[in-house]
Amino acid sequence: MQRRDFIKIIGVTSSVIFVPSILNASDNKYMDNYYCDDDVLNTWNGHNIEEKDIRIKVLSYAILAPNPHNKQSWLVNLKSDDTIELYVDQTRLLPQSDPYHRQIHIGQGTFLENLVISSTHFGYKATIIYFPKGEYGNKVIENKPIASITLEKDISIKKDKLFDSILKRHSNKREYEDKIVDLDQMTELENTVNNISNDDYSLKFENNEEMISSFRKIAVNAMEIESANLKANLETIEMFRFNNDEVEKYKDGFSLAQSGKSSLARFFIENFFLSREKALKDPIEFGKTAIDMTQNQVDSTKTFGTLTTKNNKRRDQVKIGRVYARLNLLVTSMGLVMHPISQVLQEYSDMKDLQADFLSITNTKKDETVQMLFRLGYAKRTEHSPRRGVKDMIIDSNYSIS
Ligand SMILES: Cc1cc2nc3c(=O)[nH]c(=O)nc-3n(C[C@H](O)[C@H](O)[C@H](O)COP(=O)(O)O)c2cc1C
Repeated sequence: MQRRDFIKIIGVTSSVIFVPSILNASDNKYMDNYYCDDDVLNTWNGHNIEEKDIRIKVLSYAILAPNPHNKQSWLVNLKSDDTIELYVDQTRLLPQSDPYHRQIHIGQGTFLENLVISSTHFGYKATIIYFPKGEYGNKVIENKPIASITLEKDISIKKDKLFDSILKRHSNKREYEDKIVDLDQMTELENTVNNISNDDYSLKFENNEEMISSFRKIAVNAMEIESANLKANLETIEMFRFNNDEVEKYKDGFSLAQSGKSSLARFFIENFFLSREKALKDPIEFGKTAIDMTQNQVDSTKTFGTLTTKNNKRRDQVKIGRVYARLNLLVTSMGLVMHPISQVLQEYSDMKDLQADFLSITNTKKDETVQMLFRLGYAKRTEHSPRRGVKDMIIDSNYSIS
């Protein structure tokens, strides 16, 4: 039996032949736990919390932000007492799929939003200065901070209730339930996000059958293009974690677990069909699995969403990241799930024509940029993707986390 046929049997593709129920049973072992460092776990559990530096406390939640390929491209400078300077970790970029680092900057914004929300939880006001040493252009990353965040104790600060969703939020890559998203929920999301946008950005949902059908075709086509691009494919393979040993070793990237496969299903796939060695030997075959998965994900999707900005400077990318993180937390608090599918938005040359088609059918104006495309729906939770520790992100190696 071929690997793809086996994956079909256990339900990774829609042509399910036989699904032993035990293989699809929800797997609670890591469901609400993360693979991550003890210092972070201790903070979440409130261990010695009073004695901890407030910056370490809020950073322990910032690292849970959604970010491209779970690269966690964050570095922090903690040199002055109440301030955090955030930098892009330039050793953790995605040059093939994100050649202008737009998505990496969105991932800086998601980090900032989690940080601001968690500051309110601990009774602190976070004041952000974007690009305090100057903003750089869209084709480069300079060694300058993205933001400087000052934390100030403020007993009058209102706790942001989205804090309660930070540990629960995830990008849910499962197939979604056959259920249309409640119109009131969609309107609430659109109003909440658009009412504070000052026309700088807009959130739009699409559930018209004809448009959904076009979105589905485009998403699969984009994955086909990405999978045919050897370098982009290898970049994904590099971040795919083929087994638990890899997850524990790297504490970044993503695996079949985020698509809802139980540990037993993964045991079979990982032991008999899918390995780093095989994927590197035959990246095209690995890509075919990604295409099949995308097909099933979009076929099960009844609502897509887009976040579009009027401008596309570095600051716009960071700020829309903050909006995306908030949206994902709000969605979580409402019992919905979401999952970005970014391939068609990516700026490498193979994607140009399909991207033009997508921008045309979405009536995107010439100067606007669709920053995020995602699906929205209902699904059982999946395992969290792993996280490295806060200490891995601190620039000053003399700083010690108590
Ligand atoms: C800018 C951006 C682009 C993303 N694009 C994709 C994507 O194309 N496909 C996908 O499966 N996940 C995508 N994601 C989700 C990430 O894979 C996910 O956030 C990361 O693995 C961490 O997992 P978590 O969100 O469950 O914590 C994207 C996230 C961000 C912030």
